[in-house]
Amino acid sequence: MNKLSAKKILIIEDDKDFVRTFTAIMENFGFSVSICFSGKEARNFIKRSPPDLILLDIKLPDVDGLNLIEEIREGLAETRIIVITGHAFLENAIKALRLGASDFFVKPVDLKALKKAIDRCLDDQEKSLQNKKLTQEVIKQNIELEKMMKKIKGLNEELSDAYIETMKSLAEALEAKDSYTKSHSDMVADYAKKIAERMELPFYEIKKIFHSALLHDLGKMSIPDSILNKPGSLDEKEWEEIRKHPGKSEDILKPLTFITFLPIIRHHHERFDGTGYPDKLSGEKIPLGARILAVADSFEAMTRDRSYRKALSKERAIEEIKRCSGSQFDPKVVIAFLEVLKG
Ligand SMILES: [Fe+2]
Repeated sequence: MNKLSAKKILIIEDDKDFVRTFTAIMENFGFSVSICFSGKEARNFIKRSPPDLILLDIKLPDVDGLNLIEEIREGLAETRIIVITGHAFLENAIKALRLGASDFFVKPVDLKALKKAIDRCLDDQEKSLQNKKLTQEVIKQNIELEKMMKKIKGLNEELSDAYIETMKSLAEALEAKDSYTKSHSDMVADYAKKIAERMELPFYEIKKIFHSALLHDLGKMSIPDSILNKPGSLDEKEWEEIRKHPGKSEDILKPLTFITFLPIIRHHHERFDGTGYPDKLSGEKIPLGARILAVADSFEAMTRDRSYRKALSKERAIEEIKRCSGSQFDPKVVIAFLEVLKG
């Protein structure tokens, strides 16, 4: 070990003969040795120049060496302490080790064993320093990662603003064509959101359901007014046109690749028993958002005047929703909806 890289050992001991002998031995081992004869002197020295290892006599003239161990370990986590004492009290040894000493030797010291203990301490110290370095590296990387996440979040927010603007334009386009559909969609979105909240869905799912409800009937823009606003009942061909609207809504929104709720829109007219449209999906194969939308949509439509029929009363519409639970609607969604209506 050369002088520059020599580990620093501090001997704290008031026995001058011991100090002389051990200074020579430690220097012979290649360490850079310093000496303090009292606790006070040691405290001052350690503050100025923290050692790698301390050989400490716990019986000092001015302080209890055990207290010094605690003090040093609190201030210098990486400094190792080996206690060397002339008093072979087991109790002291246990106390010293509990307080953070790495080893305990009784005079006369077995030099071979002491050298091994010193090597062990310094190895342990090296590992601890490496771990510390590694931890600092991980913390640094985490900070970088956090910065990156913030950047991504910013980009998402920008995208989200563009998305909301798109939503508004689409809703306005729909309103121009069919004011019923627009105000109907607003109400459906409100019901659907409340059902999703009652079902304790995650925030982002609730958001998806809400937005899909606003736009679910967008495809109706392509249905001729003569069918959409027909006062009388529709014939089969006209119904066929109507049944195309979920797919058309999906087609209109498909180019907006950031929209993640197209399946909700496509399947909002599926029935729980598998007799709905466009794909005759049944049960839980229908996206949950679409099952929620189906209840909200039907209830809102039933309680509103149309060109071809009068609105049902709220009570009558509730009866109808209950009657169709399990056939048209998912019973779990119906239960949540009824709870929403109760407030
Ligand atoms: Fe619809």
